[in-house]
Amino acid sequence: MPIERVLFTEEQVNARIKEVGAEISAKFQGRELKLIGVLKGSVFFLTALARAMEIPVKIDFLAISSFGQSTAGMVRIAKDLDDPIQDDDVLLIEDIVDTGLTARYLLQTLAGRSPRSIAICTLLDRTVRRIVPVPVDFRCFEIPDRFVVGCGLDYKQLYRNLGYIAVMNPDRG
Ligand code: IMP
Ligand code: MG
Repeated sequence: MPIERVLFTEEQVNARIKEVGAEISAKFQGRELKLIGVLKGSVFFLTALARAMEIPVKIDFLAISSFGQSTAGMVRIAKDLDDPIQDDDVLLIEDIVDTGLTARYLLQTLAGRSPRSIAICTLLDRTVRRIVPVPVDFRCFEIPDRFVVGCGLDYKQLYRNLGYIAVMNPDRG
């Protein structure tokens, strides 16, 4: 098994998502949110989070592709949203904010489309690897500088469907 150790169990992940869903619902009470998921990593988190929320939500997705090393910050939109976000309260949903380059690019790009507001919610936050500052509004877990899989995060497109977050040992992959 390429899994080295479990960082957060399925029970811990689900409990934390419920808490954050309640936190977001409280913050946006009386409003309607547009959840924007970044394919494919955020899909599992987005659906769990949406079900933990008590306010009305719409969902839309975009996909990005990064040329070469993501650390070079070369990101572009490969599949755009279906609908405009003008005057929407937008919540960008990420699997992980690592260097911050992807999140910064997406926040800037979406902000240019005149949403009413824009915020970001991430399942995992690895601040020790941050290259550019990102204002993370909601996050479930801070993680150490190790490669992780599960809950949407992949290694070579595998392990996204694990219900828990695990540290991966690629040597055993
Ligand atoms: P960024 O470095 O913040 O731009 O993050 C880029 C992307 O790298 C994330 O959205 C993930 O898809 C991927 N990524 C970063 N760290 C990990 C990890 O530990 N496991 C799986 N994917 C990761
Ligand atoms: Mg991703």
